[in-house]
Amino acid sequence: MKEALQQILEDAKKRLQEAQSLQEAEDVRVKMLGKKGQLTSILKSMGGLSPEERKELGMQANKAKGEIEAMLNRTFEQLKEKAQEAKFKAEKIDVTEPGKEFKLGTKHPVTITIEEISKVFKSMGFTLVEGPEVETVYNNFDALNAGPNHPARDWTDTFYINDDVLLRTQTSPVQVRTLKSQKPPIRVFAPGRCFRCDTPDATHSPMFHQVEGLVVDEGITMADLKGVLDSFAKQMFGEETRTKFRPHHFPFTEPSAEMDVSCFKCGGKGCRVCKGSGWIEILGCGMVHPSVLKVGGIDTEKYTGFAFGMGVERVAMLKHEIDDIRLLYENDMRFIEQFK
Ligand code: DAH
Repeated sequence: MKEALQQILEDAKKRLQEAQSLQEAEDVRVKMLGKKGQLTSILKSMGGLSPEERKELGMQANKAKGEIEAMLNRTFEQLKEKAQEAKFKAEKIDVTEPGKEFKLGTKHPVTITIEEISKVFKSMGFTLVEGPEVETVYNNFDALNAGPNHPARDWTDTFYINDDVLLRTQTSPVQVRTLKSQKPPIRVFAPGRCFRCDTPDATHSPMFHQVEGLVVDEGITMADLKGVLDSFAKQMFGEETRTKFRPHHFPFTEPSAEMDVSCFKCGGKGCRVCKGSGWIEILGCGMVHPSVLKVGGIDTEKYTGFAFGMGVERVAMLKHEIDDIRLLYENDMRFIEQFK
């Protein structure tokens, strides 16, 4: 038994010297002094010895126990200190070190343009509304007078989810939703994403943005349309901007027009931006077709309205003379940062 005690003591000493972590030291404690530990089992087995032997061995065992405990304490202390030192080292702060540069992003030019357009329409009493990018075929086409044979409905032009659901090709379905959910007087604008099956090139992207507008009230005429959109053009492109309305066709407006603004780059003389014409086409518009008003259950004898829709990327590209729409989607900070 004596030899066994000696062995335990030496064993404990060796293991504790080698211990690298508090857990390893704790393992030694359990192995030697724990309930089922080696020393503990020696103490337990002393019952069968004679009183003298028991006394002698008991003393030795307790002495060994004391020594192991002292060694354990020391080892725990040392290891704790070591851990603390390592922690301090890892957390050391060099107050003289230059700070890390936090790169703040900038607003995307498309966002900036939407905000500029929104600001103008808000100032004229318009309220922002939104519609989903995943729309019903009905809201995107049928309700807007684009019947089953309308060319824009072709599956090569539009992203269909199924026969009844698609990615909206325009923000105009927000008109339908608004007419169904609001009563006149209505004065809303709706910015948002649109999708068309276009192969990307300098002027086309399968995803782009539009801002839609809709006004419905008693006695609304083409003069209101022209007044509002002319005012918008002046606020957006400069006080000296002139506007021109050309007849056009949209299924959901009658009459329909496209609005051109005098070139804000050359003032109308003709330049690269306006392709020499002095005018820039900026949006589509018209008086809301009675059959669209009827979809919303609006009394067409009492109410009339006008609507408009413009491409955000187009406005942004013209304003900032960006010659390729794809630059807007590459998210190269060197490009985006220029529009702060
Ligand atoms: N939705 C049309 C397009 O994508 C643009 C448009 C034209 C919207 C006339 C209108 C409008 O609200 O009245 O080409």
